[in-house]
Amino acid sequence: MVKTEKIKILIVDDEKQFTEELSGFFQGSDYESFEANTAEDGKKMLKSHEIDLLILDVRLPGVNGLDILKEVKIQYPAMEVIIISAHGDMDTVIKAMRLGAFDYLRKPFRYIDIQIAIERTQKYLLVQRRLKQMEERNSLISKNLEEKIDRQFIGVSPQILEVFEQATAAANYPEANVLITGESGTGKENIARIIHYSSIREDRIFGAVNSSAITETLLESEFFGHKKGSFTGAIADKMGFFEVCNGGTLFLDEIADMPLNLQAKILRACEEKVITRVGDTTQIRTDFRIISATNHDLKKRIEKKKFRLDLLHRLNTLHIHIPALRERPEDIEPLLIHFVDLFATRFNKPGLHVSREAFELLTNYDFPGNVRELRNLAERASILCKGNVLGINDFPVELQKASSETKETEIVNLKTIEINMIRKVLQSCKYNQQAAADALGIHRDALSRKMKKYDIGGTGNIAKQVSSQ
Ligand SMILES: Nc1ncnc2c1ncn2[C@@H]1O[C@H](COP(=O)(O)OP(=O)(O)OP(=O)(O)O)[C@@H](O)[C@H]1O
Ligand SMILES: [Mg+2]
Repeated sequence: MVKTEKIKILIVDDEKQFTEELSGFFQGSDYESFEANTAEDGKKMLKSHEIDLLILDVRLPGVNGLDILKEVKIQYPAMEVIIISAHGDMDTVIKAMRLGAFDYLRKPFRYIDIQIAIERTQKYLLVQRRLKQMEERNSLISKNLEEKIDRQFIGVSPQILEVFEQATAAANYPEANVLITGESGTGKENIARIIHYSSIREDRIFGAVNSSAITETLLESEFFGHKKGSFTGAIADKMGFFEVCNGGTLFLDEIADMPLNLQAKILRACEEKVITRVGDTTQIRTDFRIISATNHDLKKRIEKKKFRLDLLHRLNTLHIHIPALRERPEDIEPLLIHFVDLFATRFNKPGLHVSREAFELLTNYDFPGNVRELRNLAERASILCKGNVLGINDFPVELQKASSETKETEIVNLKTIEINMIRKVLQSCKYNQQAAADALGIHRDALSRKMKKYDIGGTGNIAKQVSSQ
């Protein structure tokens, strides 16, 4: 709505009688007027009142009116200025207009002249105000949207940087269908939204559908819409997802669970970009892009004849795989910082941060629930934490146990790696211990000790070959 506040006018002229008369003229009108008889007072007024229109005499004693004009146009760019000049001073008028004055009046003038000049300026001011309000509203909408879609995708690992690259490519090809795979909680829906809102489809609908959550009888009507009376309960014509997402993106979550008969229909809709509502014959053209997601192995579903291979080929024009969080542990710390900052703001706990020990604890944990689990842990710890440092004890005990178990497995894995490495090198050096020790960068005695410790070459042919060197 356009502000209906009165337009504020400041009259700056050294003739007191003039400013008073003009002010009197504005009284009882749609304008609120203020007066100043010196440049100094005028500037004070500009500071203390939000002036919309300045009527400025450019021939003020002791100052150059054009300099003042220049100054106020810089300081108050949204304010309009009408200048008052002396008769025959066209030179000043031209300069003033060049400096951004909206209009000019020549003294002496009739009130009707000023009335017309002000009305003209007022129209312009109203348009300006409307524009500003629209801009504010739009930025508010996009801010809300941004908050709602949680567009931020945090990560520093090479795997996640690659996901970013692929998502950017997907955003640049708004006709290509995208399949996103990854374990639960890795951020599949998040990436799908990022692709949509970074593409030219951003102004249209992003419709997220979880086909496993809709009853099978309703699936077809939900996707294709229906005509009034086509079945019990169809009390009015209804658009389906394909139509609603015209111009936008249809996000099909958990596609692996989609019933086979619906898969065939979806395939046809994808190929033809034309649909027919249930109970109707009219063909409706609709332009949608499908981004689908699953945490199941679709190949296995295809082998078991639970998923159509031709549909998979339609859906995975671009394929983005988001690796599990445990495969990219370097993302844990930045994600944790991000979520703790988020909850610190939400729960009004400024300065909340994570202790080094807690970082270590979490970096060694394998996050079966991926980023969603990390987010939940961060939220819970942010709520429970007493001071402003999140320590180990702010995280669940089970997690502390699981984390130390991970460490043990890592040690076992390291041992296995060492054994395998020694075996490999020995083999490639034809079991010459000296050559193998050199290749491994250790002393021959150290190699012997390790072979003994890990029981490498203890029996059989290899033992014979090793000992004969
Ligand atoms: N890299 C990331 N940066 C910031 N937040 C993330 C990231 N990855 C995931 N999240 C957040 O983790 C939560 C789970 O993500 P999302 O719902 O996208 O996962 P999903 O893969 O669709 O899971 P599911 O398979 O269970 O549906 C969301 O709150 C999401 O915002
Ligand atoms: Mg999801």
